[in-house]
Amino acid sequence: MKDKLQEMLAAARVAVTEVDSEKGLQDVRVRFLGKKGELTAIMKGMGGLSAEERPVVGAMANKVKEELEQLFEQSNGQIREKVIALRLQEEKIDITLPGRSSFSGTKHPITLVTEEVVEIFSALGFGVEEGPEIEKDFYNFEALNIPKDHPARDMQDTFYISDDVVLRTHTSPVQIRTMVKQPPPVRVIAPGTVYRRDSDITHSPMFHQVEGFLVDRNITFGDLKGILTTFISRFFGEKVGVRFRPSFFPFTEPSAEVDIQCVICGGKGCRVCKNSGWLEILGSGMIDPEVFKSVNYDPEEYSGFAFGMGLERIAMLKYGVNDLRLFFENDVRFLQQF
Ligand code: PHE
Repeated sequence: MKDKLQEMLAAARVAVTEVDSEKGLQDVRVRFLGKKGELTAIMKGMGGLSAEERPVVGAMANKVKEELEQLFEQSNGQIREKVIALRLQEEKIDITLPGRSSFSGTKHPITLVTEEVVEIFSALGFGVEEGPEIEKDFYNFEALNIPKDHPARDMQDTFYISDDVVLRTHTSPVQIRTMVKQPPPVRVIAPGTVYRRDSDITHSPMFHQVEGFLVDRNITFGDLKGILTTFISRFFGEKVGVRFRPSFFPFTEPSAEVDIQCVICGGKGCRVCKNSGWLEILGSGMIDPEVFKSVNYDPEEYSGFAFGMGLERIAMLKYGVNDLRLFFENDVRFLQQF
């Protein structure tokens, strides 16, 4: 029996060397240590041994069993390592291949211009407000002293959602929304998207404006001029000439349109400025007392100014872009230049 045990151990040692998977090893284990395995078969013969021999052989059988366990344990570790090594080999990645370079986007020129305008006015103490693009007639027209028969209210010019609701035609309704919710003093700019029924080389049915307004005691036209001149010299450069031209808006009195010296020809006259040497960039004026009445501000105590400018327009002038539509086509070759 002792020989049989030794032979079995030797056979097991050979068997594990031929195994190359965890499943194969499991089979070998069952063959030697299983309930119907070789060790069990040998042990059945113990009954025929003498009383002296039995404990000796029993001890030996236990030792062989331990050795088998150890052998399988060790082999199991080796097989696992082999399997991992094989997988690593198969799934090897060639890190010497050059990577794909990532494409980084740029901000849209209108975003850039909006951010710059906001930054300049923030430095002058203005806060930022926003209003809805779908707006009530009251905020877009009525409270801004735009009478029922004003041409801006015409179906030709305004997108109507219903009799009482429009796509806002300018950012001026944010003046009303801000003033009804807070008492003076106010000092606010309001960038946003606006809509008009207009479409040609210099007009888009959707475009962007920034509104600005300031209300306090003793605000004069001189304050309006000072703030706007400061803004223009920071945005377009110290040297650019500025002029204020009398104009009309229902919600400001007096009103002025502001021109800057043509940035293309420097004021000599060219196609862009239609040989005038000047380019209009914004509308402005002292807020009409009628507007103050509709927001419950006392026009005897307070005065203020407001202005509104087209962001596409100032972006075109700043970057020398000659076609408004380029801002909306979103051709990457165009956008990447900013
Ligand atoms: N809302 C006017 C427009 O869209 C611009 C403007 C704003 C004029 C504020 C005066 C004061 O044309």
